Amino acid sequence: MRPYIVAIFNQKGGISKTTTSTNLAVCLAAHGKSVVLIDLDSQGDSTKSLGVDPAVKRGVYDLFIGAADIAEVMLPTIFDGVRVVPSTYSLAGIEIKLSELKDSQRTLTNILGHTHFDCDYVVIDCPPALGILPVNALAAAHGVIIPVTATPYANDGLMRTLPSIKYVQEGLNKNLLLQGVLFTIHDRHKTARKIGKLIRSRLGGTVYDAEIPRDTTVIEAATARLPVCVYAPKSPAAQAHLDFTVEFLDRHRKIAAKAGEEVAAPAERPQALERLQRWQGEFANALDRPGSERVRQGRDQLDRMLYGERTPMERMHLSLVHFFIENRLSLIVFLLAVLGIAVAIVGMGFEGMRMLAVAFGLT
Ligand SMILES: Nc1ncnc2c1ncn2[C@@H]1O[C@H](COP(=O)(O)OP(=O)(O)OP(=O)(O)O)[C@@H](O)[C@H]1O
Ligand SMILES: [Mg+2]
Repeated sequence: MRPYIVAIFNQKGGISKTTTSTNLAVCLAAHGKSVVLIDLDSQGDSTKSLGVDPAVKRGVYDLFIGAADIAEVMLPTIFDGVRVVPSTYSLAGIEIKLSELKDSQRTLTNILGHTHFDCDYVVIDCPPALGILPVNALAAAHGVIIPVTATPYANDGLMRTLPSIKYVQEGLNKNLLLQGVLFTIHDRHKTARKIGKLIRSRLGGTVYDAEIPRDTTVIEAATARLPVCVYAPKSPAAQAHLDFTVEFLDRHRKIAAKAGEEVAAPAERPQALERLQRWQGEFANALDRPGSERVRQGRDQLDRMLYGERTPMERMHLSLVHFFIENRLSLIVFLLAVLGIAVAIVGMGFEGMRMLAVAFGLT
């Protein structure tokens, strides 16, 4: 059977397309599936996350210009069952090169159509914006997943992305299915909840139940060049990626059943978790834990991407909100302390307050 091809796409940058692609690929492999990840981003982040150096000589660029076929550029990764068609630094010049070719929007469709793939899934990590590479991915894919973050800017990104998908569905690829919308880097503050609710009410069942929470472990994992599901399989983000993979597999089986195809049952979730923990033991121990300064820089960079530039006051507010989201125990202690002080003040009455004021020399 031919593999199921899924593109991870959103025109907005920095909202977890690469993180979703690599974790989905590795979680699918942990479920016993074989996966090929195609890295269409010249930044090469998913190539690096899978332990492959984007300084390799040949990759997607050579594939697109017809200088190599998939078997020649595809590489094994450190994870059993996951192979990668790597991005190379030369990929940045592909737009100009492809504009010289005929039918350039269907280059990947033609390549994949003529390849005999012995794998179950092809996951395509798209770069941001609607350039020639994402169009190629959408033209070749069976399904598209849109990662989205519940911030006002990211919502705008989603609203620009949906028409692009429709454009491809109306022309290049009539069978392209919106497999789902996935909330990523999901915050629990009021604005995020409001935007999240709005998107869910607009898109209904298209949105996956699983939501990937904002979790600093993801930044630590990226710094250590590992997907979070292997770096820390029990972290909230890794668990959410595993939940999402289970949902993804389930949706795919339903889609296949409708088309009269049968898909082999995946391994159960506990077995998948066990495999991820085995990989963690094999690889994570060999790596240094990243310094807190690098993690802080990663977090600041992420906030700039999601929220744009902010004033120092706004940054302080955001840091406080994120601190309390990540350290819920501190929030509970803080609230209990405030409550305790309030009760003490009321309990002491006005006389007590007068005595306090005298003690502090305020009268
Ligand atoms: N759940 C999460 N919690 C915290 N940080 C996250 C989470 N998911 C992703 N990140 C961080 O957000 C940043 C952007 O993620 P990623 O590179 O996956 O986005 P992208 O959409 O692929 O970006 P680009 O558009 O540049 O390709 C990275 O630093 C990543 O480590
Ligand atoms: Mg990316």
